[in-house]
Amino acid sequence: MNAFLAVDAVSLGFGGAVALDSVDLSVAKGEIHAVIGPNGAGKSSLLNAISGLYRPDSGTIRIADDGFSRVPTKRLAELGVARTFQNLALFKGLSVLDTVMAGLVHRQSAGLAAQIFGLPAARREAREHRERAEAVIASLDLADVRDRLAGTLPYGVQKRVELARALVARPRLLLLDEPMAGMTATEKQRMSGYIRAARVSSGTTIVLIEHDIGVVMSLSDRVTVLDHGRRIASGTPAEVQADPAVLAAYLGLAFDEEAA
Ligand SMILES: Nc1ncnc2c1ncn2[C@@H]1O[C@H](COP(=O)(O)OP(=O)(O)O)[C@@H](O)[C@H]1O
Ligand SMILES: [Mg+2]
Repeated sequence: MNAFLAVDAVSLGFGGAVALDSVDLSVAKGEIHAVIGPNGAGKSSLLNAISGLYRPDSGTIRIADDGFSRVPTKRLAELGVARTFQNLALFKGLSVLDTVMAGLVHRQSAGLAAQIFGLPAARREAREHRERAEAVIASLDLADVRDRLAGTLPYGVQKRVELARALVARPRLLLLDEPMAGMTATEKQRMSGYIRAARVSSGTTIVLIEHDIGVVMSLSDRVTVLDHGRRIASGTPAEVQADPAVLAAYLGLAFDEEAA
């Protein structure tokens, strides 16, 4: 199989602690792939490794046949990878529109001089970027707040602004770390709809970390389960849900919580 994203035997440790232990992940083009597992399982570490933020100790990561173990953010944008973070990462002083426009910074092709002197090519590019940002803002129902400071909006809306910033450059691969954490059931349903729409409109391949098992079941094509840095299962949502190893990992967690 020729996977769009192929993570092969990636290991990653912090001091003595093992975050990832020879993890494999294979995601087909256009797939929505959920990564689930108890807290501390290594889910964010896996996303950070894929997005080039962490360099694996060993193993390889390929995106559309470009092999790398660590790429600078700019190069990653050129590969067509965008991400959101588990904790909100919005600039306090920027409006929603400027925040979304920031997602296009790496796409600027007109030279600095052209931009400063307002040459036609730069003006055209600025107009195109603005139009693209406005379109994404509209598609995520953010038009009403486009001029508000992003950092002052309700939490669920900020999560949507982050998604807009990630989507504006039409990424080929979108990595979402708990895009629905802290949301109400209604907000989660809306967010699921926006994520599905992104796949349809741009053919984007999506890897997301999510805790709500109902959301995972209804949104994802395939699921990978991590526990203590190891992949313990991978398959369709139904396969994974019925897997004894997965049940054990989650039951163990329930017992731990009861004991605590
Ligand atoms: N930057 C870091 N420095 C030190 N330890 C880290 C760092 N990031 C993650 N870890 C450790 O790696 C393990 C996996 O963490 P993480 O990937 O955040 O799990 P998850 O996202 O599944 O909750 C945990 O034991 C965590 O403490
Ligand atoms: Mg995490």
